[in-house]
Amino acid sequence: MTGGAGYIGSHAAKALAAAGRPVVIYDNLSQGHREAALGADLVVGDTRDVSLLRSVIASRGVTAVMHFAAWAAVGDSVRDPAGYYGNNVEGTLSVLRAMAEAQVPAFIFSSTCAVFGEPQEVPLVETHPTRPINAYGETKLAIERALPHFERAYGMRSICLRYFNAAGADPEGELGEDHRPEQHLIPLALEAVRGGRPLLVFGDDYPTPDGTCLRDYIHVTDLAQAHLRALEALDRGSRSDVFNLGNGRPFSVRDVLQAVERVTGRPVPHTMAARRPGDPAVLYAANSRIQAELGWAPRFADLDTIIATAWRWAEGHPRGYDGATA
Ligand SMILES: NC(=O)c1ccc[n+]([C@@H]2O[C@H](COP(=O)([O-])OP(=O)(O)OC[C@H]3O[C@@H](n4cnc5c(N)ncnc54)[C@H](O)[C@@H]3O)[C@@H](O)[C@H]2O)c1
Repeated sequence: MTGGAGYIGSHAAKALAAAGRPVVIYDNLSQGHREAALGADLVVGDTRDVSLLRSVIASRGVTAVMHFAAWAAVGDSVRDPAGYYGNNVEGTLSVLRAMAEAQVPAFIFSSTCAVFGEPQEVPLVETHPTRPINAYGETKLAIERALPHFERAYGMRSICLRYFNAAGADPEGELGEDHRPEQHLIPLALEAVRGGRPLLVFGDDYPTPDGTCLRDYIHVTDLAQAHLRALEALDRGSRSDVFNLGNGRPFSVRDVLQAVERVTGRPVPHTMAARRPGDPAVLYAANSRIQAELGWAPRFADLDTIIATAWRWAEGHPRGYDGATA
């Protein structure tokens, strides 16, 4: 599990361990946290280190790879495409090369709704045209496009999961979101509630019912379960596939702020700011294919529940994974 010490990967590692699947986490800890590995087998290494990957694959008898390791900030990718192509494309090709050499037959890829670009129609279905509008989306699409070639040449089957906005935290309170800097709406709103910087809301003049953007927030534990379903499907010999992975319901920025106020019982200090370039008004997933094909369904689809789990983590870990809990 590359990137298994990060936000989504750590939740997936916990879900796999709970299902009795042995896991080795491979993470350079550039963004991840040793504590998020929860004592699992952790190898600190970079995805571009093919020889270390080779030795980990051989020594642990790796039979499938879930590949979470990547950089994932859209704005940074526009400023630093060289870094993003290096980490996300070169890094992934290096993982795929090591897997092909060792004949590892199964690959599960963390893709993103950013592969679509500006939506022509919502909800977004898998067949919607893919025209990314930033380097981040391009790096993920480049890998999606490489995978059929790896299957033809090396027999490696894959499932690409195009996540929408991952949100929430482990309902048991052991794991949560600790990105530095944090750029996601829910943790930023919770930080504002806890006395941090007021939240900036980018645009309230969109053509939506309340003027703020509509997005799809999928609980991180639901994301984790989808990975388990994908792995089981590949184990059964299913064909390669690509799925959109979202909650399937759009919520506006104002919906999120109101839910945060309901859950925490406190107002969210916030200021309105101008729209950000490249932010579509509405973005949410059609998730019926993954439900039908992999037997997955979101369990934490309700916004208040998603936020309650994130709030539990924020209250219990005021400095994220650093230091003692509150
Ligand atoms: N968070 C979201 O809402 C979201 C949405 C769509 C897609 N994704 C994708 O999901 C994946 C995980 O996202 P996340 O939010 O958990 O991010 P994260 O930053 O918390 O986790 C990524 C992990 O990968 C590790 N990593 C990065 N580059 C590496 C490298 N070269 N070698 C080894 N390890 C490396 C980091 O240390 C980190 O632990 C990413 O691929 C991201 O593009 C995330």
